[in-house]
Amino acid sequence: MSTSVELRNLFLFADLSDEQLAWIGEHADVVEVAAGEDVVTEGEPARCFHVLLSGTVAMSRMIGGDAVETTRTDQPGVYFGAVQFYLDDDSARDYPSSVRAITDAAVLALPAKEFAREFAQWFPMAMHLLEGMLLGMRKSNSQVAERERLLALGKLSAGLTHELNNPAAAAGRAADALRDRVAGMRNKLAMIASGKLAGAQLQKLVMAQDEFVKKVRHAPALTPMQASDLEDELGDWFDDHDIAGGWDLAPVFVSGGLGVEDMEAVLTSAGEETIEGAIRWLSYTVETESLIREILDATSRISDLVGAAKQYSQMDRAPYRWIDVHEGLEATLVMFGRKVGPDGGIDIVRDYDRSLPQIPAYSAELNQVWTNIIDNAVDAMDGAGTLTVRTALAGDRLMVEIGDTGPGIPPEVRKRIFEPFYTTKAVGKGTGLGLDVTYRVVVGRHHGDVVVTSEPGDTRFQVLLPLSESGDG
Ligand SMILES: Nc1ncnc2c1ncn2[C@@H]1O[C@H](COP(=O)(O)OP(=O)(O)OP(=O)(O)O)[C@@H](O)[C@H]1O
Ligand SMILES: [Mg+2]
Repeated sequence: MSTSVELRNLFLFADLSDEQLAWIGEHADVVEVAAGEDVVTEGEPARCFHVLLSGTVAMSRMIGGDAVETTRTDQPGVYFGAVQFYLDDDSARDYPSSVRAITDAAVLALPAKEFAREFAQWFPMAMHLLEGMLLGMRKSNSQVAERERLLALGKLSAGLTHELNNPAAAAGRAADALRDRVAGMRNKLAMIASGKLAGAQLQKLVMAQDEFVKKVRHAPALTPMQASDLEDELGDWFDDHDIAGGWDLAPVFVSGGLGVEDMEAVLTSAGEETIEGAIRWLSYTVETESLIREILDATSRISDLVGAAKQYSQMDRAPYRWIDVHEGLEATLVMFGRKVGPDGGIDIVRDYDRSLPQIPAYSAELNQVWTNIIDNAVDAMDGAGTLTVRTALAGDRLMVEIGDTGPGIPPEVRKRIFEPFYTTKAVGKGTGLGLDVTYRVVVGRHHGDVVVTSEPGDTRFQVLLPLSESGDG
């Protein structure tokens, strides 16, 4: 074992007493590691606290199946391995990262358990402080993470609930109306069955009905002007044929894509004396068909929204996988609902390069990034402007650029926007975490970059993401 003089040269041990150094000298081993070998391996039981004596080592962590190097050093005295040896709980049980020798290296290996006992006697107060600090840090980290998730959800849930509520209410209303109409049809059926219509007439009527239903399914969308012209025409026709309440029936037929020619056809098959009953019967048909269409539209809108919410949250998906960024961007835009779009006074311009390759990413976390940047853009534009979402290849990285036409970010603000809790918004409106999260997800998690350019009327947030897992960004 090295002499205490050598140990004292390591900054960690510089101020230890002679006995303490002697204890370390007795209990530590010097381990020679050949270039390319692991000194410690991530996930294995954390048995030893290590100090580098000579050579170069690199620290790495597994991210999505790949080892990502986090540090490389040849500084004697750096320590790694069971660095939380002093913690007497399970959280420090395994090595948090791997350390590999890049050149042949020598390290000091101190058995963690014994060192912990000794250390506690040497520095009882330091132990308490370290423990307290670490637990506090963990707690606040997990609180911040929880808060971030809630924030992103909170930003969206208002929009989403509103979006879901509309079609759900519409489907409910349509189903109620449908019940009414079906009851009305049962009455009419009784009348028809009582024998006022001849069998042949009835058959023609049923055929007309099928014809009508087909037209309703493909009814063109009309402008209010067009609709009102057609309603006038049809109302006049009903007047001419003495059909009571014709002016109420006209809009029903017109919105179903039916007009005067269709009524003429009915007249031919039903005859003058039963035309009124026939028209009423057919109006029920048209109405029920329109109501069914409304219900189908509403329910498929709900399914679309639920699909987008699922895509957004990445429920049931692996957290880290190869993704098409456009899917997340689109899901995020849907989640914003009416807040982003013509109803919210904001035009969306999509400038997508659909030929971009898939990239490896934490997809749900990236969706939080899009949410936070778009949320800021929408806030900045305050109800009027253009949101531009652009994707492109930028060198060996994929770029997502989100631009807004808001007032811009003044230089003194720009310096601080990525700081946690920095906000220029009113109390209760902004927490100042949006861009802090963005930065940590893009830079910390994906080894990408966030670039901001801003002048009044043109602010852009560019998110640059590596194309491959070993991205060096
Ligand atoms: N597109 C933008 N235009 C103008 N200012 C912006 C824009 N994006 C961010 N900012 C400025 O950066 C500050 C920090 O943004 P950040 O998203 O981190 O927090 P926040 O929006 O204030 O609050 P939070 O996102 O937590 O609700 C904002 O308060 C705002 O002043
Ligand atoms: Mg924000």
